[in-house]
Amino acid sequence: MPLSVLILAAGKGTRMNSNYPKVLHNVGNIPMIYYSIDLAQKLNATNIGVVISEKAVEIRNFIKHLSKKIDLIVQSKQLGTGHAILSAKKFEKKAGDVIILYGDCPLISIDSLNNLIISRKKGADLAVLGFVADNPKQYGRMAVDENNNLKKIIEFKDATKDEIGIKLCNSGVMIANSKILFSLLNKIRNNNSAQEFYLTDIVYNANKEGLNVQYVNCSELEAQGVNNRKDLSEVENQFQVNKRLEALSNGVTLKDPSSTYFSYDTEIGKDTIIEPNVTFGTGVKIKNDVVVKSFSYLEGCEVNSNVTLGPFARIRPKTILDKGVKVGNFVEIKQSNLSQNVKVNHLAYIGDGKIGENSNIGAGTIFCNYDGYSKNEITISNDTFVGSNVSLVAPLEIGNNVVIGAGSTITNDIKNNELSIGRTRQINKKRKK
Ligand code: UD1
Ligand code: MG
Repeated sequence: MPLSVLILAAGKGTRMNSNYPKVLHNVGNIPMIYYSIDLAQKLNATNIGVVISEKAVEIRNFIKHLSKKIDLIVQSKQLGTGHAILSAKKFEKKAGDVIILYGDCPLISIDSLNNLIISRKKGADLAVLGFVADNPKQYGRMAVDENNNLKKIIEFKDATKDEIGIKLCNSGVMIANSKILFSLLNKIRNNNSAQEFYLTDIVYNANKEGLNVQYVNCSELEAQGVNNRKDLSEVENQFQVNKRLEALSNGVTLKDPSSTYFSYDTEIGKDTIIEPNVTFGTGVKIKNDVVVKSFSYLEGCEVNSNVTLGPFARIRPKTILDKGVKVGNFVEIKQSNLSQNVKVNHLAYIGDGKIGENSNIGAGTIFCNYDGYSKNEITISNDTFVGSNVSLVAPLEIGNNVVIGAGSTITNDIKNNELSIGRTRQINKKRKK
């Protein structure tokens, strides 16, 4: 059956106390709305719509960059979650079911959404994802009857003392047939303390019309919504816990999981060992049998098998490290290719470079790739030895089997099999007494 997904992201996010829209705040180094869109794509939804506010230029740009197929729907005034869905009225005409996701709940799992779909298949006209919480905070409370049928969702602001005591909470995620959803929404009113059109009121209305309304359980951890900075830090924390468990179960050794930080897209192969205090920025792909030693920071790089990095290595975007490369302490590498078995073991900067197999870069070597106006490249061929404290001034081409003397400043190309020394000759003179 065709499936549509509508994601709500037009809210003001006032409780974040931010100059930026709430759903653009990062979780795992990507705006949190990414996770809802990713779920919709994993479900192979025929139509995906995101409801945004008129001024949300940055959200619009972010989503367009993700996919051109996503329908951006403007909610001109933020009059509540129900009103937000009504802004997407064109979805009423889409065949099949609609799943509603909130853009501020990034940890919802695909399994829970599949459970909702199953509940619909088993006969629910409307099914809502709920969870039991010891501390139900300001979540909507879900009232059920003696047969566990969902009767009503009461928003925190409107709950009586008894209702506040309910531990079953609304995650915000639900599923219904598109026609039924919009016919229920057409009847909601804003006679509540926030004077908003609550999406959650459709539960009561559906019961009044004799429809079959069910709830499906999920865990409190995955349903956590981000409404303020504290929530954001808790969700980030949980995201990291999930990523660490995923890495461990994929056969990665994390010596101190709690100090390993992942991005949404980090990929690490089997039998790789990550020492304590390592951070993976976005776009990191690591193969098998790699060792990343403590205090290393990696971004946008490809690390092939049997590479050793760190401690204190900084690997920046567009870097490729081939098999067996060794990068030691206090080494920064940017947009460079290091071929098999290259060694850069101490205190070096490699930028816009290509280094051939088995070459060795000495301690304190600097690729002077920027002349104040533009970046230039340095190519070093195979089996070349660069002595310590060498400045290589780009652009440069350095051949095979070259040796460069320590302390040199190299400004001219070097051919294969040459020895190059570029420094003033040492003079030793007798001292006057
Ligand atoms: C909402 C639910 C609550 C649930 C909780 C789960 C309602 C009325 N309440 O409360 O029952 O327990 O989520 O996290 O639905 N939005 C719009 N347009 C609007 C208002 C909101 O698009 O006019 C969007 C927001 O950007 C956000 C989502 O809807 O992504 C939820 O809005 P929010 O204000 O965070 O609702 P909660 O108070 O968290
Ligand atoms: Mg919320």
